[in-house]
Amino acid sequence: MLKKYDTIYKSTSETGAISEAAEILKEGGLVAFPTETVYGLGADALNSDAASKIYAAKGRPSDNPLIVHIADKNDVYKLASEVPECAKILMEAFWPGPLTLIFKKKEIVPDGTTGGLSTVAVRMPSHPDAMALIKKSGVFIAAPSANTSGRPSPTAAEHVLEDMNGRIDMILDGGAVGIGIESTIVDTTSSVPTILRPGFITRSMLESQVGQVEFDKALFIQDPSVKPKAPGMKYTHYAPSGELSIVESETTPGKVTDSVIDTINNLVLSHEAKGEKVAVLATGDTSPLYKCKNIILLSDTDDDITVAQRLYGALRECDRVGADYIYSESFSGDELGGAIMNRLIKAAGHRIIKV
Ligand code: TXA
Ligand code: MG
Repeated sequence: MLKKYDTIYKSTSETGAISEAAEILKEGGLVAFPTETVYGLGADALNSDAASKIYAAKGRPSDNPLIVHIADKNDVYKLASEVPECAKILMEAFWPGPLTLIFKKKEIVPDGTTGGLSTVAVRMPSHPDAMALIKKSGVFIAAPSANTSGRPSPTAAEHVLEDMNGRIDMILDGGAVGIGIESTIVDTTSSVPTILRPGFITRSMLESQVGQVEFDKALFIQDPSVKPKAPGMKYTHYAPSGELSIVESETTPGKVTDSVIDTINNLVLSHEAKGEKVAVLATGDTSPLYKCKNIILLSDTDDDITVAQRLYGALRECDRVGADYIYSESFSGDELGGAIMNRLIKAAGHRIIKV
């Protein structure tokens, strides 16, 4: 049985809130806190019992390892048995920030934190509240996104409350996050650095520092027998309750063509005729062209940074309006658009309507 908690909810600006959270972490408890990407659900990374509570609170499969958050670059050497040259360059260029690096792990990192893997994922977040919490607690913080497993990652403290109230000790509210999708994950143990999860730090940004960088091939292959190197990438994720489909132009993926708009409008019409509720996820430029009661704006203009910030909140909004069916425009490319599309495809359980 999962322990029932009285979850404490405090703003990070409240005097003593971060110290209180730090005490809870030291004692092996669970605290949700803001980072620049999404809210994390933290526990002492070197305390196996504490880390195991994260899995229970999230309903997370135990083979899905956690990211260890640090507040000082040098602490990487306490967790990693080898720090390759490319990792040193990437740490200098992008830490603190939305980049997670995979290393061979040292003995002190428990299997409970790494899902039994011999590697460990490490990230130094740039959010001042996250930094303050790590420093104040004096522990390394293992933290997945603070959502129930399978639901959209939380980009505001209210999202954490929706999913985690009564399941964790404390929620620190630091306002809405800046980036909105999870960190880029790069495996530095392979001969060529490999992106296991795309994010705000894009391939070209990485390549400008260390030369050639590859994507994990499993990211683009539909075959379920090809296993992604980041165990979490194999699960359906971020899914709203309604059935989400992406409508994509066959010839110009990522571009919203007339036939994308016509297809979405026809689908909306046929669902609404049956009394079903529909929502459309649209960007500002094309949103006036949809004939649907629930148009959820991913951006005011055609701007991927805003789409990333709003995406998970928009998926939760689909639940709030009670949408049975959801249609989204598509995104593409090697840069942020590709990272957005990666999350959308998982939220849609790979349902893509090509037109
Ligand atoms: O932005 C982020 O990274 C957020 C914030 C809270 O820092 N955290 C986050 O954690 O997204 P989570 O648990 O939702 O996703 C972690 C991903 C999973 O896909 C997991 O499988 C992968 O990282 N991962 C963790 N350790 C790994 C390892 N040793 N090797 C390969 N993949 C690993
Ligand atoms: Mg997650």
